[in-house]
Amino acid sequence: MRFTIAQNEKNVVEKIVSLAKRKGFVFQSSEIYGGLNGCWDYGHLGVELLRNIKEEWWKSMTYREDIEGLDASILMHPKVWEASGHVENFTDPMIDCKQCKTRFRVDTLGDSINEKKKKKIVEAFEENLTDANKTILQSVYDIHEDLDARFEAILENKELAFELLKEANCPNCGTKGEFTEPRNFNLMFKTFVGPVESADNTVFLRPETAQGIFVNFQNVQNSSRQKLPFGIAQIGKAFRNEINTKNFLFRTREFEQMEMQYFVNPSTDKEHYDVWKERRLNWYKNLGMDLENLRFHDHPSDKLAHYAKEATDVEYKFPFGWGEIEGIHNRTNFDLSRHQEFSGKSQQYFDDELKEKYIPFIIETSAGASRSFMAFLVNAYHEEEVNGEQRVVLKFHPKLAPIKAAIFPLVNKDGMPEIGKVIEAELSQFMRVFYDSKGAVGRRYRRQDENGTPFCITVDNQTLEDKTVTVRERDSMEQVRVSTDDLLTFLLKKLK
Ligand code: GAP
Repeated sequence: MRFTIAQNEKNVVEKIVSLAKRKGFVFQSSEIYGGLNGCWDYGHLGVELLRNIKEEWWKSMTYREDIEGLDASILMHPKVWEASGHVENFTDPMIDCKQCKTRFRVDTLGDSINEKKKKKIVEAFEENLTDANKTILQSVYDIHEDLDARFEAILENKELAFELLKEANCPNCGTKGEFTEPRNFNLMFKTFVGPVESADNTVFLRPETAQGIFVNFQNVQNSSRQKLPFGIAQIGKAFRNEINTKNFLFRTREFEQMEMQYFVNPSTDKEHYDVWKERRLNWYKNLGMDLENLRFHDHPSDKLAHYAKEATDVEYKFPFGWGEIEGIHNRTNFDLSRHQEFSGKSQQYFDDELKEKYIPFIIETSAGASRSFMAFLVNAYHEEEVNGEQRVVLKFHPKLAPIKAAIFPLVNKDGMPEIGKVIEAELSQFMRVFYDSKGAVGRRYRRQDENGTPFCITVDNQTLEDKTVTVRERDSMEQVRVSTDDLLTFLLKKLK
């Protein structure tokens, strides 16, 4: 992913981070101690938004007959991660600057070097190559034409990377060519079970929730008596010791995933893969994400993960560039075959229609709850001018909005607060609402616009006469009068 941050776009992210803190969406973890890099806490509005995203995903996945839910533990048998390939492959190549000791991921170093500088580095590197490395370089140039792609591909090749790094400056202190050799760094967090900190007692915090699903394939299939094709869905925390955390919630060390593994007959993999691609894009679209800010990025065959036959990313256009919010993968029978091999337990499925046994293929949809949170937040953020004044408004889909309705008595007398409190008590049995009697109504509207509250209900003089209230819609700012008796039904319809 390439980030070219124009100043005004960078400002948008800064504004959103600041709004997120001021309004109680997201705080830095352990802020009073200076923060912990790559970890974030969700405040009173953030936790509602996050829960609503997960709830919508859960309903879309499990309120259907062919998908079952699961909640597997974070700590798993260490053999799981050997079988999955994470012990061997879940690594990033790292280098340290010998001068300032800063550590960098080799494959993303190019992101912090401008075009002109890259050209200079590549020219100097080409001049000093051995014949053997010239041949390797030629094979890279045969595949990639533009400078950025070539730079990236050179850094992905261990032999070439070390030579190229001799010509590069440290992005932190500027020192030239003082990097250590690239070394592989495993991204899994380690800890120990029991009181003895030994190799035998080492376990990992799961870097993906998927493995909890794979190792429970037989349990779920047997207990639910599902037949193929069927899926298992899970939401849960995952941990990765990312070297470079960046862009707010985009790349963090602790995050939540919403993963669904769909088990299919191997001969039907392509058809299910295509169906799930479409369904997942529609899920984002139906929750208000602008279609022009969404796209698929299909992985070329030479960039596929070790387990995948076909893969695509659902990408969102963040202010800093396109970024993956979900991965959709045809994982073949890689995972179940490996677990069968490492555990010695059969992972075959008996297809009683075909009268044959086979290891199912898996189509995976793997969304980041925290990353989607950021995409929904960015997508909702709008600055508008209303009657010569600026308003900041979060235009969340009503289903995702942290607070569904705010209730205002126009003035704090004449029985209006009492009516407002009755409405609050009634509505809060069904949805999160907020009662606010402080300040001018215009200011109360603005506060709720910034919270993303889709409806504001005002109790006014007319309410005392005919038991109607005004309901103001956040985006259009239009107001309608609704009888207090019909208010709940009115809102529930709008929240559907
Ligand atoms: N089981 C497959 C898997 O984990 P992935 O592409 O590595 O695939 C899936 O991750 C999703 O998890 C990503 O699309 C992203 O939304 C989220 N994700 C991955 N690493 C993340 C991180 N460091 N911080 C936040 N979200 C992350």
